[in-house]
Amino acid sequence: MKRALVIGSPIAQSRSPLVHGYWLAQYGIEGSYERAEVRPEAVAEFLRDLPARGFSGCNVTIPNKEAAFAACDHLTSRAQSLGAVNTIWFDEGRIWGDNTDGIGFVAHLDQVHPGWDRNAPSILILGAGGAARGLALPLLERRPGLIAFSNRSRDRAEALIADIRAVMPNAPLDLVPWPEKATSLGRFDLVINTTSAGMLGKDALDLPLDQAPFHTIIADIVYVPLETALLAEARRRGLRTLDGLGMLLHQAVPGFEKWFGRKPEVSEKLREHVIAHLPSR
Ligand SMILES: NC(=O)c1ccc[n+]([C@@H]2O[C@H](COP(=O)([O-])OP(=O)(O)OC[C@H]3O[C@@H](n4cnc5c(N)ncnc54)[C@H](OP(=O)(O)O)[C@@H]3O)[C@@H](O)[C@H]2O)c1
Repeated sequence: MKRALVIGSPIAQSRSPLVHGYWLAQYGIEGSYERAEVRPEAVAEFLRDLPARGFSGCNVTIPNKEAAFAACDHLTSRAQSLGAVNTIWFDEGRIWGDNTDGIGFVAHLDQVHPGWDRNAPSILILGAGGAARGLALPLLERRPGLIAFSNRSRDRAEALIADIRAVMPNAPLDLVPWPEKATSLGRFDLVINTTSAGMLGKDALDLPLDQAPFHTIIADIVYVPLETALLAEARRRGLRTLDGLGMLLHQAVPGFEKWFGRKPEVSEKLREHVIAHLPSR
């Protein structure tokens, strides 16, 4: 029997067991996907012990992504450049780490809005935290005309741009001052909220959309609630939207394939299964 799990602290809120449990049942795979409360200082030892305990690997969630990065023997290039790991597996006793958040976002974008990258789109990323970092390189791989970052704390956006330039000196990057984000919308084809504004219990993101061109895609990676105020406003205006749940589902695909030996499908039924377990308010 193959086993995997997710580690974090707290861990009760993780939706990963819902996703992997669904796929295990769908494909009739004899396996389990569990969860464990692990603090960052205990991550390295916990990971070292996992193969002996019969685990093929694990997901890593907040606040352990940096500690897991530090504990890995080998890293994929995207995990290396991010300094954070969300997917772990073992090979000949060595710990491997990857970061699949960004490719999960792009896979969802491809699924819902195929062709979005056809004409070197201009992209505005709101936020400069871990999630924004994760999205940057997978989006740059699709050769956009521009990626601009706008963050409440300007220095964090500047630092992110400098870090990307260090690995991709010619990347088409820009900074939009936070107070100018709404008036800059006319320049962008894809706008992505990666801030935590709009999450259940937090203030909505203050972004009037009246300057957004009719073809703009408005994406939010917050998925509780599934339709944030930003997405609701975009929908009212007839703009195309992308919710945050698809990113969560697609980032799980590479891990499941590594641990359980089958590439799973992100289907409408899986979405419905997870939505049924999300808090509605
Ligand atoms: N869908 C998915 O699979 C998925 C995956 C990863 C993350 N997420 C979601 O993405 C969000 C960000 O995660 P993260 O890991 O990047 O967090 P993080 O590293 O803590 O960064 C938080 C970001 O949000 C900004 N922010 C926080 N409150 C704000 C407010 N009231 N107004 C404007 N900006 C605000 C911060 O700006 P400052 O720098 O100015 O503080 C920063 O840019 C969370 O909601 C998380 O749940 C979703």
